[in-house]
Amino acid sequence: MRELGGETIFLNPNDIQLGRGELIKDTARVLGRMVHGAIIRTFAQRDIEEFAEFSGVPTINALTDDEHPCQILADIFTVQEKRGSIEGKVVTFVGDGASNTARSWMFAAGKLNFELRLASPPKYQPKAKWLKRAGGKVICNADLQEAARGADVLYTDIWVSMGMEGEEARRNADLGPYWINEALVKLAKPDALVMHCLPAHRGQEIDATTLEANADTIFDQSENRLHVQKAILLAVASCVPPMQLQPGV
Ligand code: NVA
Repeated sequence: MRELGGETIFLNPNDIQLGRGELIKDTARVLGRMVHGAIIRTFAQRDIEEFAEFSGVPTINALTDDEHPCQILADIFTVQEKRGSIEGKVVTFVGDGASNTARSWMFAAGKLNFELRLASPPKYQPKAKWLKRAGGKVICNADLQEAARGADVLYTDIWVSMGMEGEEARRNADLGPYWINEALVKLAKPDALVMHCLPAHRGQEIDATTLEANADTIFDQSENRLHVQKAILLAVASCVPPMQLQPGV
């Protein structure tokens, strides 16, 4: 926002009346009269949707328990930057296929015509309603090796998403075999990209050698969050009415 010449204010729940029990729809109606847009990172998807509905200003989902769309837009941009159009490519997501990141990958696969393989244990695969909503070619496969074979992209994310800290031991045990390592990379295409949403936990969802061997891609991917978020802001700026202030006010 600052690079584009805009101004930002950062608000924690305790900086505003949300921390004192104000309803989201009331906070949204107040803030909607004071700012031109909102970027929200929270837990419940419903909270962002309610804010968007009642604020009347563009509201960007910067991560919820359900979705992580801004990340996946940056990831897809990174694939395009390095390998051209993502259409027709095979992206293998390794880990929790029911996570926010995986779900946003699913929605993207439906829109951009690439094959998404979710390599996850059965109870970490997405519910049928999400597969239906995503449409497109999304293949759930508990066989990690098979899911990785011939892939253009191997992608992973932290096993314990924000807010799931209490489930760490169980998730680490369940997801233990679902990691990207040197042997898995050999099954993908020779020029396959290895990508990571970050933060990385070496020895869990990815081994240290593989992460370092692919650090150029992974940290370009991370840098692209900056550039792609600017593109998102520009795209929504067209929805924002001009400033109401008169010159000199
Ligand atoms: N799935 C991860 C993404 C972190 C940016 C999480 O929700 O913690």
